[in-house]
Amino acid sequence: MANDICILGAGGHAKVVIEIAEQTGYKIAEIFDQNEDVTEVLQYQVNHDLENLSQCKNVFLALGSNQSRKMNAESFSTIKSNLIHPSAIISKNIIIGFANVMMAGSIINSSTKIGNHCIINTGATIDHDCVIEDFVHISPSVALAGNVKVQEGAQVGIGACVKQNINIGKWAIVGAGAVVVNDVPDFTVVIGNPARVVKTLA
Ligand SMILES: CC(C)(COP(=O)(O)OP(=O)(O)OC[C@H]1O[C@@H](n2cnc3c(N)ncnc32)[C@H](O)[C@@H]1OP(=O)(O)O)[C@@H](O)C(=O)NCCC(=O)NCCS
Repeated sequence: MANDICILGAGGHAKVVIEIAEQTGYKIAEIFDQNEDVTEVLQYQVNHDLENLSQCKNVFLALGSNQSRKMNAESFSTIKSNLIHPSAIISKNIIIGFANVMMAGSIINSSTKIGNHCIINTGATIDHDCVIEDFVHISPSVALAGNVKVQEGAQVGIGACVKQNINIGKWAIVGAGAVVVNDVPDFTVVIGNPARVVKTLA
């Protein structure tokens, strides 16, 4: 059926995704996870055979790790729409791709662009003219000012604030509660106020 959805992932992030799918009119057809230790999530049994995923028309990746979503996107993701919690406030003037989730209370303001496979988590606000590339995670209660660019695979940690006109590089991690007032280089971890690089990844 057109409104059937299969979910890949059965962890904590998946619980929130499942509830948003249910609240927005999808029927959960099946939940999949490779981890055989996870046998159920919420009221659903978990199927461990990912080969059966090919029988599902709409597959949504409910994987909290940005790397995991990227690794599995090509093989498994088929959904061409987004999961948007009814309480999210989204400008009519944004450009948005597919396979994104916008959680409760998130706000996306005018002229922002969002790619594919992103998580805009609970209560996060993204102001005007931002660019959010593919596989990004904007964690709960993050505040992005206007004209912020978050490049592919980056995670902005819970409660972080980012000043206007800042660029957050590819696969960078902004630590929880950081105050970002300077650009963040690719593949780095920044923490603190003002946020400074504490680690280089890869
Ligand atoms: C920044 C971060 C990636 C570092 O993770 P890590 O490399 O595993 O670092 P550790 O937890 O080993 O901590 C290393 C040190 O940094 C400190 N630290 C860790 N995160 C910090 C943060 N956000 N701000 C300030 N200090 C931090 C730790 O207290 C520790 O200090 P110490 O060496 O003096 O004891 C992680 O702590 C973080 O903030 N992740 C974001 C989590 C998030 O947003 N989750 C939401 C999911 S929905």
